[in-house]
Amino acid sequence: MLQTALRHGLIGLLLITPALAAPTAEQRGKAFARANCARCHAIDRVSKSPLGIAPPLRTLHQRYPIEALQEALAEGISTGHPDMPAFELTPGEIHDLLSYLKTLE
Ligand code: HEC
Repeated sequence: MLQTALRHGLIGLLLITPALAAPTAEQRGKAFARANCARCHAIDRVSKSPLGIAPPLRTLHQRYPIEALQEALAEGISTGHPDMPAFELTPGEIHDLLSYLKTLE
């Protein structure tokens, strides 16, 4: 029992360590979404958005091509977005966020 637990712990550590060393674009994007978008938008695969009229982020790339989102994010999505603060994301942040959105498919 203890041995199994130890082995699992070890495997877990091995899996986690590289992630800690260098967060992937997906992980940075998720952290960014959690910090900036999760107040209103659901950012995972299953939840409802905290703010009912904000579409879950997982639906965005089904409604818009990723390139269109990229452009909108770069210009600051303020249009048609009354309750949402205008964001201007850096190219790096956009890349990270879109990488994360792609994992939600
Ligand atoms: C204060 C609440 C709030 C926050 C924070 C917020 N949003 Fe929104 N967002 C909304 C609402 C409300 C809508 C729906 C607006 C509508 O349909 O008119 C929306 C819609 C969107 C849309 C779709 C626009 C469209 O035309 O369909 C995108 C893309 C979007 N948000 C991206 C983001 C991203 C990325 C973040 C984080 C960087 C974010 N939002 C943070 C409230 C918010």
